[in-house]
Amino acid sequence: MTWDPALYLRFGDERTQPARDLLAGVAHEAPTSVIDLGCGPGNSTAVLRARWPRAHITGLDSSPSMLDEARRRDGSIAWVLGDVARWIPEHAYDVIFANAVLHWVPAHRPLLASWLSRMAEGGALAFQVPQPPQSVVHEALATLVASAEWRARFRELPPPPEVAAPADYHATLEGAGARVASWVTEYHHVLADAAAAVDWVRATGLRPYLDALDDDDARAALCRALEAAVAARSPRLAGGRVLFAFRRLFVVATR
Ligand SMILES: C[S@@+](CC[C@H](N)C(=O)[O-])C[C@H]1O[C@@H](n2cnc3c(N)ncnc32)[C@H](O)[C@@H]1O
Repeated sequence: MTWDPALYLRFGDERTQPARDLLAGVAHEAPTSVIDLGCGPGNSTAVLRARWPRAHITGLDSSPSMLDEARRRDGSIAWVLGDVARWIPEHAYDVIFANAVLHWVPAHRPLLASWLSRMAEGGALAFQVPQPPQSVVHEALATLVASAEWRARFRELPPPPEVAAPADYHATLEGAGARVASWVTEYHHVLADAAAAVDWVRATGLRPYLDALDDDDARAALCRALEAAVAARSPRLAGGRVLFAFRRLFVVATR
């Protein structure tokens, strides 16, 4: 999957708010060693750096374009190209942070238990993933790509993001000896119009579908069809703005 840091950061403040809220749930006062898994363009890593100026912080991501942007923003972080699915903690981290990445990593629950077992005593594993039902845009996209017209245009439909139920995350993490807290937040972002809502997912959830189409005409047609579906379904505000509801699950496991 290709990632476009500029498009991703068009809504940088809104996208970073869950990282701030996740970090607020981590009690560790002075960690020595912190890693931001799926650090993207470094926006979530910047939140970690602001809270812990003296910690050794690593940012790991599988996208070279995202890491280029991250490197440009902050030279104090150890930026690493890598795959979360294959990552094995190379030492006992105090904080493992994963904001908006684990749903891109299939079968990630066993990884959580293995990371926890290698954490420093008192360390925290904190992550945030989508919580269904996600948003009008995601629902419209799911309906659209399942329709006969669009299904026929995909070589192969990308697998849906993989997210477990809160109770399953609790069971896995408690089974690994952690104390676990979780919560769900629904953000209500005010976007200029339905096209902006499509731009939001064009940087993330729509990306695998665009990559699975054969040409740019088909990609543009999918964006237009999604925009029309979002315009028809979204709660509207004055001036044509749309209210974009965005539900996320937060989990903090303390060892
Ligand atoms: C939605 S962005 C999150 C960026 C940032 N953490 C934030 O809070 O906004 C997801 C990031 O996860 C990365 N990613 C997806 N799958 C990955 C994997 N298997 N290993 C490493 N990074 C991955 C993508 O490259 C992308 O930069």
